[in-house]
Amino acid sequence: MSFDRQIKIAPSILSADFANFGQEIQAIEAQGADWVHVDVMDGHFVPNLTFGPMAVKAFRPHVKTVMDVHLMIAPVDPYIDAFADAGADVLTAHVEAGPHIHRTLQAIRGAGMKAGVALNPGTPAEAVAHLLDLTDLICVMTVNPGFGGQKFIDMTGKIRALRDMIGDRPIHIEIDGGVDPKTAPLVAEAGADVLVAGSAVFKGGSVDNPEAYGENIRNIRAAANGVWA
Ligand code: DX5
Ligand code: ZN
Repeated sequence: MSFDRQIKIAPSILSADFANFGQEIQAIEAQGADWVHVDVMDGHFVPNLTFGPMAVKAFRPHVKTVMDVHLMIAPVDPYIDAFADAGADVLTAHVEAGPHIHRTLQAIRGAGMKAGVALNPGTPAEAVAHLLDLTDLICVMTVNPGFGGQKFIDMTGKIRALRDMIGDRPIHIEIDGGVDPKTAPLVAEAGADVLVAGSAVFKGGSVDNPEAYGENIRNIRAAANGVWA
């Protein structure tokens, strides 16, 4: 994985057909997805359940780009090796998931993955100030995590603060929740480079009609880059 700050669109397969993940992943990549975002939920840290490392391992052969795994689980540490074995490229843990996020990020890198740290909407940018040297990606949640299709919460002030804090460090700013062609320019302008989008990518499409995914991805990217499609 090389580092750049170009806009990257990371469709969340939380909005895919759960009976057909392999073909869904292939379809979004063929239609221009830069990364594939995988939402792991435990029914404890968030009020929803999705899938664990065995499912993520089954997704791996279908992902030719970057497998970006967002853990909405607590605790995290007992599962880090399992997600490394499953083939995660980026593994993101929430700063709110436990008292030892510093140790968690060290362990994620130690297991050979890029380390991400996610912030709930109620958590300030300063929560990562002492983690920058251990972090490859900061995920700013623009919804309260747990479900796709929620309304965007404006976190542009937090994104700007993080962008200033990061300076020249090779750290991605990822936005997760309610990203669509209307909200993408706001977060891109504030300094984000990885845009997760679930419902806005998958709406109107299917593996039999993947062109709709392509149009949705192009529209989000164009909006983020300041060129309305
Ligand atoms: C929410 C997840 C998101 C979600 C985004 O808890 O982390 O990745 O799938 O979905 P949309 O784009 O529909 O808000
Ligand atoms: Zn997510």
